Parts: sequence; structure tokens; C-alpha cells
Amino acid sequence: MDMTYLLQEPPELSKSEVTNSVQEYYGLEGTLHALPGDRDQNFLLESPGGQKHVVKVSSLDEAQEILEFETEMITRLSNDTNGLIPSVIPTISGTRLVTHENQQGHHYRLRIIEFLPGTLLAEINPRSDALLMNLGERMAELASVLGAYPDHPPPRVNFVWALGQAGNIMEKSLSVLGSPQRALIELTLEDFLDNERDFLGLGSQIIHGDVNDHNVLVSLNKEGQTRISGIIDLGDAHSAPRVFDLAIAIAYGIIGTADPLLAASEITRGYYAVQPLLDIEIDVLMTLVCARLGQSACISSLRRNHGDTDPYRLSFEADAWKTLSLLAEIPRQVSTGTLRQACGLEACSQSAQLRKWLDSQSFEDVVTLPEDPNALGILDLSISSPDLTGRDTDDTANFTNRVSQKMRSDGLTLGIGRFMEPRGFYLADAFKGRLGDPRERRTIHLGIDLFQEPGTAIHAPLAGRVHTVRENQNRLDYGPTVILEHSAPSGLFWTLYGHLERASVENLKTGDSIDAGQPIARMGTYPENGDWPPHLHFQIITDLMGFEGNFPGVALPRDSNVWTSFCPDPNLILNLPPETTYMEPRGLFERRRQVLSPNLSLSYETPIHIVRGKGSYLFDVLGRSYLDCVNNIAHVGHEHPHVVGAGQRQMGVLNTNSRYLHGAIIEYAERLSKLFPEPLSVCLFINSGSEANELALRMARTYTGGTGIAVLEGGYHGNTPGLIDVSHYKFTGSGGHAPPPWTRTALVPDEFRGRYRRDDPSRATLYAADVGEAFRRLDSEGHHPAAFLSESLLSCAGQIEPPQGYLTAAYEHARVAGALCIADEVQVGFGRLGSHMWGFETQGAVPDIVTLGKPMGNGHPIGAVVTTPEIAEAFDNGMEFFSSSGGNPVSAAIALAVLDILEDEKLQANAATVGTVLKTGLDTLMRSHSCIGDVRGRGLFLGVEFVESGETLEPAPKITQYVVEHLKKRGILLSSDGPDHNVIKIKPPMSFSESDAERLISELDQVLAHDFVQGTSLIQPQD
Ligand SMILES: Cc1ncc(COP(=O)(O)O)c(C=O)c1O
Repeated sequence: MDMTYLLQEPPELSKSEVTNSVQEYYGLEGTLHALPGDRDQNFLLESPGGQKHVVKVSSLDEAQEILEFETEMITRLSNDTNGLIPSVIPTISGTRLVTHENQQGHHYRLRIIEFLPGTLLAEINPRSDALLMNLGERMAELASVLGAYPDHPPPRVNFVWALGQAGNIMEKSLSVLGSPQRALIELTLEDFLDNERDFLGLGSQIIHGDVNDHNVLVSLNKEGQTRISGIIDLGDAHSAPRVFDLAIAIAYGIIGTADPLLAASEITRGYYAVQPLLDIEIDVLMTLVCARLGQSACISSLRRNHGDTDPYRLSFEADAWKTLSLLAEIPRQVSTGTLRQACGLEACSQSAQLRKWLDSQSFEDVVTLPEDPNALGILDLSISSPDLTGRDTDDTANFTNRVSQKMRSDGLTLGIGRFMEPRGFYLADAFKGRLGDPRERRTIHLGIDLFQEPGTAIHAPLAGRVHTVRENQNRLDYGPTVILEHSAPSGLFWTLYGHLERASVENLKTGDSIDAGQPIARMGTYPENGDWPPHLHFQIITDLMGFEGNFPGVALPRDSNVWTSFCPDPNLILNLPPETTYMEPRGLFERRRQVLSPNLSLSYETPIHIVRGKGSYLFDVLGRSYLDCVNNIAHVGHEHPHVVGAGQRQMGVLNTNSRYLHGAIIEYAERLSKLFPEPLSVCLFINSGSEANELALRMARTYTGGTGIAVLEGGYHGNTPGLIDVSHYKFTGSGGHAPPPWTRTALVPDEFRGRYRRDDPSRATLYAADVGEAFRRLDSEGHHPAAFLSESLLSCAGQIEPPQGYLTAAYEHARVAGALCIADEVQVGFGRLGSHMWGFETQGAVPDIVTLGKPMGNGHPIGAVVTTPEIAEAFDNGMEFFSSSGGNPVSAAIALAVLDILEDEKLQANAATVGTVLKTGLDTLMRSHSCIGDVRGRGLFLGVEFVESGETLEPAPKITQYVVEHLKKRGILLSSDGPDHNVIKIKPPMSFSESDAERLISELDQVLAHDFVQGTSLIQPQD
């Protein structure tokens, strides 16, 4: 290959020579700063008055006529695009291109271009959908202006950056590539060559030729949105089909985005909205995008192979490979279909015609339908189905039993699994998200399932021929599978029959012709059917997409509309009477607003519809998964089977109040009290943390005869009027009112931004003294001290761990004042802190009363008060204590199961280990991200405090909110807290694993690199 063009170096003129020329020809003065350039030597010229220009010194190898053409293009475009393209500045004598001979007799050419302000698209992080769409709009505008220019640019020989040369470049570079990259380029090249004739037939016009992300400028518009404000560098302009320019803009526009295909569809959407593309242009777009990525990556590899180490030139390489391999994973029909859909077209162009035709035909029954119409009905296999466990396919026998039982109890002989149903049980690796993206698996069902006895005969619904008979052996694949081919006016289409009996298809061969109604197979049994409960998977396919003997039966939620265009509703053929298509429940937001109090807020800007939990994960209605980093109620993991089983079992036996003798409440009280230090040994059961705190206050008042309560700033203890009165977080928050005179608030022992900080060795004593002061005030105002109520580590106050020694000293002050010490362990108890079972133990303190709630029943409403025999005795003053459901047999069984799991799965130790990994990772992030002011807490109770400045400690609630929202987009659930709403609280289920912790750290690191967090004023949060 001729490497001259490829290795063309920019000229190397000294700054002084350039300065002199600029002054001589343009009369301009200023300082030169080198700018990157591929073939030109570029400078930013800054005049003493602050004016900026770009000086371009062109390569000596560049033909004069090409430079003249480029200069003419820039000049015209700058006029015709309303400043999108910067203009060429004329010399004193009015020319736009200067040829100069230096003292050594070398010629070089110089131009000065208008400087456009803005940030390079390459530096924008993240690239919002709106920005990408705007890039498409701008490309369409540019194409339309360029399309009106005469199409006779000077010819360029060996121009490696022409997209039309992508095939040559890829071919030539095969010899320098290592194996995975070579395979990728071979695929890309084959695709390019296969389609070459199509895109060369598209007609040509002048194109920019290099709208890469270093040639696109982004600025804020008047509305404060980031928009494309400039496109620079016409150095590669040449004649080619207009769609080449769009493909190049897409190739670089999608690099580094979370989902390159969706990013490509946004750019295409924008383009199409301004200027519709022809079907044939959309059809070749992805081929061209991949070719450009391949071309760019190959040029970098070739250059590297020739010793080039220029970071600017090589910068695209790694990202280009990554993006290319991601796109290569997606069938071309699907990626093109995604672009078509973005343009408002149906993803599969034949689908509408086929659907119409199928709708007009009648078909033979695929299986014999029961005579009794009630014997045929829907089996709910959706992710939210109460009949499923979320890991059903782990045990096929059990799954099959449950399916049969359900059919029997519903009186069904034919059970139907719905089209488009989101399902949670596709757990094999084959169903993983794109490049292992943990947020989405392939959950959306593209066929209809018919559940019947194994051996049930399956008939061809219409005539055709056998396309393939194939054994798809992987577990949870189709097992023996038949695909029939049929003709329709729209062309060929196929029907797929999966999970068959091996023996029943032994005699079928590719090419066999099949009559309508002919028996073709029988339903298989597990494990030969792919290890599923016996059923037929039936699917219509309009395009086999190169699959042989197999075809995806489920799709990612984000791609499901594209796939269902290629795989129309199977009921067009099956014609089953019930509603066989799954419908996502709609309108929940509106309905909720009608019937639930508006001050019960929803999390996140776009609320999520969660329908299932499993361990540390929650799943939404489409089966998308979220790593739960904030739910400390699902203590031992969401829907732990031992907890679920314990509740279900006891619910079927007895659930009544605690006025009868029953073993469960006693066993639980015995086990619970053993977890506490002496003399805390007596339990009272209620149903919530609020009730526990109410009861604790009542007991303290009965015992002491006083009324005065001291609490801490930022504290929250429950939702009753009595507890709002002692919850500083509430009574000082919006809608709050002055606390009653018997409540006094002491300083929050916050050693990061509180009154006494980490540099003060007496901070624990000083903070504790403020508790003493609160009681002195109460006493002096006639409110005899009754209780000091505080969390042992403070949650709502911002995940605060008091300095060591604080709690013992504060308790001492309380006791001296005659008050009891109540430890609210509703959030931090039950081993969450890793080092200890209870928060007060981390400080070596022993309270008089402990209140428990949230994690105690893993979500089942149960709470408790644990106290000393002496206080319990005093509380028994004649007035009875009774809670209708507190400690009932079901609650006790569930709470016992929680204790079992804590022990059996060693979750406290897990909290210590994983908490250390998490905290170490967060500490590392704090060192590299100045917006993190503090990382604190212990075990799986951690806080990350965001600040605008490490010096002023000004809280950064907007950054906090941004991080929470963007992590949610990445499938990670967190929330913020603290009086300034600038603390992210991390308190996940105790099943949280080290890899969960690592994922959280890595995703957080990426979000913290976003422009908004970094303080790049260009990016607004709403974008
Ligand atoms: C520390 C603390 N105490 C008490 C409560 C009240 O518990 P519940 O909501 O179960 O009534 C909460 C609830 O958030 C809490 O965080």
C-alpha cells in the first residue's frame, strides 16, 4: 500500500516564521498556541486585544487545487450555513490562501480561519440524546447546502480518509491486525463489499467528508441547552453520496456513548426530521458507520505499525474498536430497523403487508384446541407473576410442577404464554444484555407458548417447506427446533416451532414440503426440550437475519419494538380467543395521583415501576434490573425464599393476636434478647419503627415521671404527631412548625461540617455536653427530663457516625439529668454496621431502651422495643399495653427467619467485608473528585457528602441529585439525605456483594466525570 498519504506529516514551521507571515500578509499580531492537526499544522492566534483566529499551515504534499477548493468551500459554506462553518479571513490584499517561500526556499501555504467558540463534541460528557439529534439536524442542513453546489471537486489520489476507500484500507490492514480485531475487520469488510454496489449507486454531491467529534463544536443556546454551534475543517471535502457524511458523523458521534445504536438512532432521527432519507440510504447507513469505524481503527493500526505514536491521530483507535465490536453483536436488520424506527418508519419494511395478509387468511390449528373454551387460558409468566419465583428455570422439575398445578387449578388443558411478555427466567448467559450490560437481559417474549402435555401433536398451520430441523442443545435454548418456510405476497416468511420431542422430528428434512394441517412434530419433555416445562414456542419470522436453525425468541426491552416488527404477533396465525399479547400496565402515575396523598412522593424524575425483588436487585415491569443500594428494609435481600416461605407457611396455619400462648413470639423474644447486652432483656412488639419510638417515649415518661425529651439535630423518629414533635428533620423541614416546649434539640455530632470538627480532640465531649445543656434547659423550664432519643449513627441527618466517646458521654449527661437513653436502631441495627450487631455497641454505650423496626421483618411490618426488666416493670402500672398485630405468629415467624438468615449467611461479616471494599473505593474516588467532601460510616451504612468547594464546604445538592438520577439511568438505585440534601446514603440489602460494590464504585466514578459534576458550565442538568 502507498503509505505516503497515510503517513503524511503536518509541516513543522517555527512559530516565529508563522508569526512573521501572519503579520506580513494579514497585518495580525498575537501569540500562537499549537492546536492538534492531522495533516495541517494548526495554531490558535490570540491577539493582544483578545481576538482569536485559527492559523492553518498546510502540508507541502497537499495539492494547490485541493487547498483552493477547500478554501472556496469554507467561504461559501460560511455564508450559506449561517455561521455553522467558520469563514476564511482574507489577507491584506484580499486573497484567502497565501503561498510563502521561507529562507530555506521551502514553500508553504497559509490560511487564517475565523475562530468559533465552543467545546469540541469529543469533550462533551455525556452526549445527550437531544445533542445527538441536533447533530443529525445540522448534518441534514449541511447536506442540503452542499447538495446545491456544483459537484466537481479536484480528484484526490490515494485519499485514505474517503469513506469509499474504507474497503481498501481494511483489506490492506488485515496483515497488521491481531486475531480478534482481524476477525472484526473481516466481517466489516465483507459487509462493506456486499453493499458497495448499493451505495455507489446512490449518486453523489460534495460532502464534508470528516465530521468527526473533533471537528464539531458545541455551545449553549439561548434556552440553556447544549447544541451544535460549529462544524470545522473542510480539508477532506470530496464528492460522494450524501449519506456518507451522515455515516461519518454517526461513527464518531456514537463513540463513547452508553448505547451506540441508540445514539445512532438519535442522530438519524434528527437528520430525517430535517431531510427525509431514502429507504436505500437508511439500508446502507449501518454498513457505512461500521466501515468508517473500521477504516479509522485500521488507519490507526497501520500508523502505529509504522511507528506513529501521535496521541491525536491514535486517539480514536480504542474507542472505535469497542464501538465496532458492540455494533457487530447486533444483527444488521435490527440496527437498520432501529434507525428506520427513529425515522418513524416500520423497522421491517415487509411486516405491515405480511400482517395484513395473515389477517385475511385462515389457518389450521397448530395444536388441537380444547372443546371447552374455558379450558384454554393465559398463564401469567411475566416478571411480576405471583406464580413465579424469579429463578424458576434453576429447577425445571419444580417449574413444570408449578405450571401443571396452576393449569389444573385454573381448569386449563391448554395454557398460553403471551407475546411480548416480559419474563424474568431467562437466566442463561445467552440472554445477557449487550456486551454484558447488566441493566437489561433479553426478557421480552417474541413468540406465543402453548403449554400442554409432552407428546401433544403439532401441526403446520399453513403449507410450506421445511427450512431447517435443528437440535439447539444449550440449556434454556429451544432443544429440537423446526423452521418452516412459507410464501406470502410480501415475500418469504418463516414459522418456528421450538422445544420439540427429538424422535418426532427425526424424519423431517430441509426441503420437505409440508401441507397445511400436516402433523410435523410433538411437544418435547425436559431436559431434551432445552430443559423447559413442556410447551411449544411458536413464532413468526419475516427475516431470518442469517440465523440458521435457530432464531432469538426474546429481545432486550429497548429493542423490543424493532424485534416485534420482524416477528409479528403469532396470534395472527394461531387465532386463539384470549388476549394473547402482554400489555404493560399504563396510567399508574395518574391513578396514584387520584387516590394517594400527594405528599407521598415518588423517587426519581421519571418514576420506576418495580414489580419484583431478588437479593440486592429490583426488577421493573419490563424485567430491567436495578442494583438496590439504599433499601435497608430488605435487610437479608429482597424476597428471600426463607423469609417468604416462613410467612407463607405460618399464614396458612394461624395469625392472631398475642394474647394466647404461642411459641413463635416467645422464641423470637428469646433469640432477640440474647443479641443485646445485659440488662436489655424484655421485648414488646408492635408493627413499625414509629410505633416503637412512641412506645419507648411512653415508657420513659412512665418510668421517669418527666416529659422533657432531648433529641439531635437532623433526627427523624417516625410519622406520628408525637414523633414529628421530636424529629428535628421534620419540624424544621418544609411544612414543619415549632416543636413543643418539652422538646430540646442538641447539636448533631457531625465532625465534618458541624460545630466541632475532626481537628478538635474534644469534639466528642463537647457535642455530648450539648445534650446535658438541653436537659438543663428543659428542667429549668419545668419539663422534667424523660428521655434522650437518638439514633446511634444518624441516618436522615446525613449518615453521620458520631466521634468515639460521644454516645457514652451523652448517655452520662442524660442519666445525670434523670432521663432514660433510647437508642433508635430502626435503621442501623441488626448487623448492618458490620463490626457490631447494634449501633450503640460501636461506641461501647448501653442504652435503657432500644427501638427496632424496618429490617426486623425484611419488609414485613414488625417493630420492637427492647428494655430492662426494671423499666418494663415500671411500665406495668395498671394500664394495659396491647398491639393488635404486634408480634403475631406470622410476624414472629418472619422475624425468626430473618435472624436465621443473618446467622446462616453470615451477613454481619459480609457487611464488614463488603463495606470495607465499598468505603475504600469511595475514599479513592474522594481523592480524585473534588466534589466529594467526605466519605463516612461503617459496614453497609455509608454516606458520601458532596460539596461545591473543599474549603468552604458549601453543600452541592444539585450535584448530589444529578448523581442519584444518573446512577439510576445506569441501573443503580441510591437516594440523598441530610439537612442540605447533599449526602448520598448507601445502605443496601446485606446480601450486597463485593462485585456489587465494585460496580457501584465504577459507575459512580463515570458519572462523576460528567461535565455537570466537573463544573463545566456548558452542560445543564436538564439536558
Ligand atoms: C431512624 C428511624 N426511626 C424511626 C423510623 C420510623 O419507622 P416506620 O417508618 O417504620 O414507622 C424511621 C423511618 O424512616 C427511621 O429512619
